[in-house]
Parts: sequence; C-alpha cells; structure tokens
Amino acid sequence: MNEQVKDKQATAGKLYVMGVGPGASDLVTVRAVRILSELDVIYTPTGKKGAKSLAHSIIEEYLSPKTEVFTYHFLMKADMAAKKAVWDEVAQALKEEVANGRKVGFITLGDPMLFSTWVFLLQRLVSEQMNSPAWTAPPWLEIVPGISSFSAIAAASMMPLAMEDQTLAVISCTASETVLEQALLNHDCLVLMKVYSRFPLIRDLLQRHNLLEHALMMADATLPTEQCWHDLTTLSLSEKECRQELSYFSTILINKNWQLSR
Ligand SMILES: C[S@@+](CC[C@H](N)C(=O)[O-])C[C@H]1O[C@@H](n2cnc3c(N)ncnc32)[C@H](O)[C@@H]1O
Repeated sequence: MNEQVKDKQATAGKLYVMGVGPGASDLVTVRAVRILSELDVIYTPTGKKGAKSLAHSIIEEYLSPKTEVFTYHFLMKADMAAKKAVWDEVAQALKEEVANGRKVGFITLGDPMLFSTWVFLLQRLVSEQMNSPAWTAPPWLEIVPGISSFSAIAAASMMPLAMEDQTLAVISCTASETVLEQALLNHDCLVLMKVYSRFPLIRDLLQRHNLLEHALMMADATLPTEQCWHDLTTLSLSEKECRQELSYFSTILINKNWQLSR
C-alpha cells in the first residue's frame, strides 16, 4: 500500500452507529465497547429536553475522557415538520463530522435497526446512493447491532419466542386497534412495543381472545427499576394513569404455545 493511500485511510472519518442494548451496561457488545473507547465525538439521543440520555448512561463507562459528547433532543410529541427539522440537523452534523475526518459515534437503545430514530437519519445519509443498482454499504459507515429489548425480556422472563413453524410479529402499540387485533389472531407469538397509554386497549383485546394467560409485560428490562407483570388483570390502569405511571420502556410478550405459571 503506498504512503498516500495509508495517510488517506488514517485520516478518513467514519460514523459508527451502535445499539447499546436494553439498559444494563454489560449487555453492550464487545465490538461496541472497543469502538466507544476510540471515538473523537459521540452523539447521544434523549427523548426529554434537558434530560440525561439513557443510552449515554449505559455506555458512559466505556468512553474515553477525550471524547466530545453531544446530546440531541429528538422530539417525541412534536409535529412531523419539527421532527424532520431535528433529523435533518443531526444528519447534517454527522455528515460534517465524518467529512472532517473524525471518528463519530451515534448510539441507540436496543438495536439500531428496530423502531429507532436512527433509521430516519440513515435515510438522509444514504438514500440517494441506495437507489443505484450498484449500491454497496459505504466504507464511512458501520452499524453495530445491539441486543433488542424484546430479546432481553424473553431471556429474563424465560418466555420463548417463535419455534419451528410458528410466526412472530413485532408491532408498535401505536398501530390501530384493527391492526393489533388482526396480528393477535394471525400470529403465534407477538412482541408489542410502545405500550404506554394503549395498555387498557391491549389488555381488553387479550381478554377478549383468551390470551391473558399467555402474555406478560416487562418495564425497564435489565435496569435497576425492572418490573414484570405475569398477570395483566392485576394492572387496572386507565389511559391517563398509564401516561403517568407506566414506564415508556414497557413491552408485552405473547406466546400462544406457552402458558405462564402464576
Ligand atoms: C423507540 S423503541 C426502541 C426499540 C429498540 N430499538 C429495541 O431494539 O429494543 C422504544 C420501545 O422499546 C421497548 N423498550 C426499549 N427498552 C426497553 C426496556 N429496557 N424494557 C422494556 N421495553 C423496552 C419499549 O416497548 C419502548 O416503548
């Protein structure tokens, strides 16, 4: 390799997008830990203005003291135009960091390719090139998978997910009641994410289809505040109470072929 090529490679910037898992710091992959210790700068997301990023607190111990940290507030409840403006801004900032030859990190909870704001940034960073038939992943971008919350919940609760010819659906509870009900009817196993204020609706659907004894909910999995409900009938929260009392990080697992012992 000639010296010029070597120099270019040494100074080339790169963006590393890393899933940091569901909450526990020792559920971060070895690859992510190695990269985190070598970053020039890291971008960390937060859902609440001024709040510390949960993703950042998970991996803080692996960062070099020299790494610059930027926390971005990704608006959760704003209108689409305001959300898009933040995605445009962060995608532009990441692009410039890479162009300036820096080693840049971007972290997401769980896995970055599942229900993650990162995907809106990915569209902005590579969608034009992806339309080309000769497209290959760009050398300036690496995505490091993370342990998804539902894998961690299945392991902690010992509720298996799909086996043999069974089907598994992963759905956000922001979907319509019809979509949720159809999914309950059509699949053997389901992961329901973003439960939040939709909990009463889901509990009623499970009751209607005699699925309560096949369902559990876990909040804050692998964090010190983790809670698991094996009997969802014991939780009689209204929509309003869910908004106030139920962690945003709550997920329901259903397996029609697995009966929970209570
Ligand atoms: C924006 S999605 C992020 C999903 C993430 N990319 C993943 O792979 O798990 C947020 C939803 O993930 C689920 N979630 C994330 N972390 C969780 C945790 N520690 N415990 C339970 N559910 C969690 C909840 O359903 C939450 O509403």
